[in-house]
Amino acid sequence: MQKFVYYAPTEIVFGRGEEARAAELVQRYGGKRVFVIYGGNSAKKSGLLARIEENLRASGLSVLSSGGVVPNPLVSTARRMVEEARAFQADFILAVGGGSVIDTAKGVAHTVAAPGSDIWEFWTGRKVEASLPIGVILTISAAGSETSNSAVLTNDTLPQPTKRGITTDFNRPKFAILNPELTMTLPVWQIGAGAADIFMHTAERYFTPILGNHLSDEIAEGLLRDVVHFGPIAVKNPQDYEAMSELMWCGSVSHVGLTGIGSKGDTPRDGDWSCHQLGMALSAIGDYTHGATLTAVFPAWARYVKDANPARFVRFAEKVYGITEGPEEERIEAGIRATEEFFASLGMPIRLGELLGHAASEEEILAFTDECSYQKSRSIGSFRVLAYEDIRNIYSRA
Ligand code: NZQ
Ligand code: ZN
Repeated sequence: MQKFVYYAPTEIVFGRGEEARAAELVQRYGGKRVFVIYGGNSAKKSGLLARIEENLRASGLSVLSSGGVVPNPLVSTARRMVEEARAFQADFILAVGGGSVIDTAKGVAHTVAAPGSDIWEFWTGRKVEASLPIGVILTISAAGSETSNSAVLTNDTLPQPTKRGITTDFNRPKFAILNPELTMTLPVWQIGAGAADIFMHTAERYFTPILGNHLSDEIAEGLLRDVVHFGPIAVKNPQDYEAMSELMWCGSVSHVGLTGIGSKGDTPRDGDWSCHQLGMALSAIGDYTHGATLTAVFPAWARYVKDANPARFVRFAEKVYGITEGPEEERIEAGIRATEEFFASLGMPIRLGELLGHAASEEEILAFTDECSYQKSRSIGSFRVLAYEDIRNIYSRA
């Protein structure tokens, strides 16, 4: 095996009704003045937010709730929340929602812990050196932010909106409550997008140039098979507890670093991540659903890079889809096609044109490529390193 460091400090509390333990967990991690962050309307409509507020207050905690986080969450919203949390003298940030709410909570927690700072400083190079403790009550199985060390925000206050992520162990929540029943009110589009994101968090770590970690591979392949099996069941019937719970746990495991151990030798989180970079540029410009941006680019990316290590794609086809017949080239293509069918069964786009609603113009492709390459200042990927022209080719082929 490669050397690695594995750090996954988030306490996971999984099961029906476990959100009733919110106050107990907040107190365990030192919270007394709890700033609760939520999204649009779903947590209010379901009654979850009111239940949580009541649960916290019944234990003598002070609570201030603030909503309005949108998908592809915005720096402007987070800045408003920083002011509110500072005025409230919050000592704990509780996220009730999905990746967008959790990522906003992470940004707010870091900024409040650094008096006088602005949130975007941490997204543009300033090191996070302290943070308020963060807890999560998860309502969607998707981004994996409830266990991850990353946070992604879109800065809508710049002339050209830009979507960026930061990685730090301060992003790791203290606890995450996972009750699959809370995800049963999700629209099927969000369930499908979530399953796709979970698949991609695993695939991005699986397609790495550094191999020789067999347990990591086996865990990743098992996770991919689980999502391929249960994702379409969940989309067809969101009331299916078994499918929703498998997705929920897959989501957390897919982004806690476990499937990427050793993939770069000294950290558990590295992989290829090209599809995420390609997808984030699409969301920065067009505000598309994160999971759908990944499925729109994966097929073109896979066909573009497969020759960097055909054996890896042969193994992927065999272990995930049981494809063992025929010459290698055909098995590779069959594995990519099976992935397209899986994404389509989730209701996700498998071509860029499907995502945009029209064939991408040359001008649009250039805008996506500029954003993805940070205005020609970086390459992406590690399975095969992709420079500006490669990025443009992949968008064109997608
Ligand atoms: O705002 P509300 O009304 O709550 O509606 C949300 C939102 O419209 C809705 N929703 C959530 N739970 C629900 C529900 N609707 C009904 N019932 C429920 N139980 O779902 C919509 C999407 O929510 P969002 O939080 O945006 O979803 P997701 O968890 O997919 O998060 C996506 C964001 O996370 C980032 C993405 O880039 C994107 O901005 N990511 C964060 C990562 C991380 N921090 O580790 C990694 C990922 O790769 C990803 O980049
Ligand atoms: Zn993702």
